[in-house]
Amino acid sequence: MSSRGADGSHPRTAEHARPDHFLLHLSDTHLLTPGGRLYDAIAPELTLKRIFDDLEAAGTRPEAIVFTGDLADHGDEEAYRLLRSIVEPAAERLGAQVIWCMGNHDDRATFRRVLFGQHHSTRPVDRVYDVNGLRVITLDTSVPGEHWGALTGAQLDWLAEELASPAPHGTILALHHPPLPCVQDLAVLVELRDQQQLAEVVEGSDIRAILAGHVHFSTSGMFAGVPVSVASATCYTQDLTGEARGTRPQDGNQSYNLVHVYEKTMLHSVVPIAAGTTMSSVSAAESDAILAAHGVTLPQRRTPAPVAARRPDRVDRELAAMTTPITLPVLE
Ligand SMILES: [Fe+2]
Ligand SMILES: [Fe+2]
Repeated sequence: MSSRGADGSHPRTAEHARPDHFLLHLSDTHLLTPGGRLYDAIAPELTLKRIFDDLEAAGTRPEAIVFTGDLADHGDEEAYRLLRSIVEPAAERLGAQVIWCMGNHDDRATFRRVLFGQHHSTRPVDRVYDVNGLRVITLDTSVPGEHWGALTGAQLDWLAEELASPAPHGTILALHHPPLPCVQDLAVLVELRDQQQLAEVVEGSDIRAILAGHVHFSTSGMFAGVPVSVASATCYTQDLTGEARGTRPQDGNQSYNLVHVYEKTMLHSVVPIAAGTTMSSVSAAESDAILAAHGVTLPQRRTPAPVAARRPDRVDRELAAMTTPITLPVLE
């Protein structure tokens, strides 16, 4: 006969083990040069600092932090330096790798140079990351000089080539312009164009979720059989309580997402940045004790997949080409 919990309940194992992976998804930081204000009122770096202060205070330990674009409002070098100064030291303390994605407000050349220490190339910034067996691919949907999004045939070919070999724990595709319908009519002007071409590459691949931003409110949908999770902005958001189909930016409801990746599913949980009123609190240690008293076991996550040697991506190859010494022929 099985033993019972301290309260007399039958022992049981939770329906799901702990997640295999835990990531943060932030979007649309729209940083300005230090001290700058969006709409002459909002200091976008303050909410960003607050997020990381709160995460550190809570002892949160994400494996990676994914930023889905519009990192700098005008693509200024100083804004990217400000971003690095806030995010990178905090990410190091949290033990998380940082994954940057281009948006329509970003400047490719400055983005590459300040965030990756690379040459001023204006080619798309498409990259591949290994997060303990979970592959994260960032795809650059920006079009220089425009706010709408697009992918070139070369980018789609590259994506298909990367996806040809599946990753141990599957793939998350991170891009700025969501491949979804627009809730606000004016967003059609800045949507991702030719979405069907991307659908043909995504369908049947090991992509388990698409992370996006751009619209400044939290939303979700399906694309080519894959769930799409759009994080709101950390700077300002779109007020959907305004006139139906209209557009009304507001200083409020800024948020980011927690992404918990399980063997068979994935959760995207929205975290508002403004503090609520705490009504009561149960610590992790107290939770453990309560579960034990109820005879409930929560299985640990699967053993992380061994990290394969990182394959060079497009940005690596370009950098290598630019830094390979050129041997000049000896003149007779
Ligand atoms: Fe944005
Ligand atoms: Fe955007």
